[in-house]
Amino acid sequence: MGLIRTLTKKEVKEKVREWKKEGASIGLVPTMGYLHEGHASLIRKAVEQNDHVIVSDFVNPIQFGPKEDLATYPRDFEADCALVESLGADLIFHPSPEEMYEPDFCTHVNVDVLTKGLCGARRPVHFGGVCTVVSKLFHISEADRAYFGQKDAQQLAVVRRMARDLDMDIEIIGCPIIREEDGLAKSSRNTYLSPQERKAAPILHKALTRGQEMIENGEKDASKVKAKVSAIISSEPLARIDYVEIVDWNQLQPVETTDGPILCAVAVYFGSTRLIDNFIKED
Ligand code: PAF
Repeated sequence: MGLIRTLTKKEVKEKVREWKKEGASIGLVPTMGYLHEGHASLIRKAVEQNDHVIVSDFVNPIQFGPKEDLATYPRDFEADCALVESLGADLIFHPSPEEMYEPDFCTHVNVDVLTKGLCGARRPVHFGGVCTVVSKLFHISEADRAYFGQKDAQQLAVVRRMARDLDMDIEIIGCPIIREEDGLAKSSRNTYLSPQERKAAPILHKALTRGQEMIENGEKDASKVKAKVSAIISSEPLARIDYVEIVDWNQLQPVETTDGPILCAVAVYFGSTRLIDNFIKED
């Protein structure tokens, strides 16, 4: 059967009801479209692990701040459909903002503590918008599993915490970062980079790899690792650091030592494009 394209929540719910009656499992891959190899890896995993897969393709307005790139966020729905179909997903859900949000919509899901630092400190409405739309997608899809990339590590941690705290009956699966050959993490926003910025951007992966090596070689002082990562990024004239942080991977609070599970995350501007990248040490 070919890919089902749906614009309405009602159509998705009808299909889900049918699948549930058959006792089938459902995987959800929430996306904002303009799909690349990173999304493809999530969809592949979902197809592997579930009887049916729903991909949502929705640029969620409420997770963008007033000065952010909502209007210019890249979109190519036909290319997205072709990719999703080629990967064997069953349904692509592409609602309008009006379909997702009633004019008097006023209910938001906010996760505390984990959203205070890192990107949450710079993007005050972002995670509230993400958690609200993701909760809605979980309800609409009734998925058994949902797939999120580790590139947005704070998002992964926040969604996991939300699902746990609100007893959402869904398994959150984190998937590894997919990179270009030169190490740059795949992102829809990479298309904003000028050729010179694109050439400079792999410095993030280079710096993070060095930081990871320091920890593997026994460095316990988080400030030394942060200083090294920052110095390498700053050696690239086109890079402007927004943050370089090491936090514990459960609460996302700054740590002094690199013992235990940690997340080392960076956000760096190249011109007006802000890129994020990270590594996680699980134990
Ligand atoms: O990671 C994204 O693309 C978005 O934040 C998500 C999870 C699809 C919610 O809009």
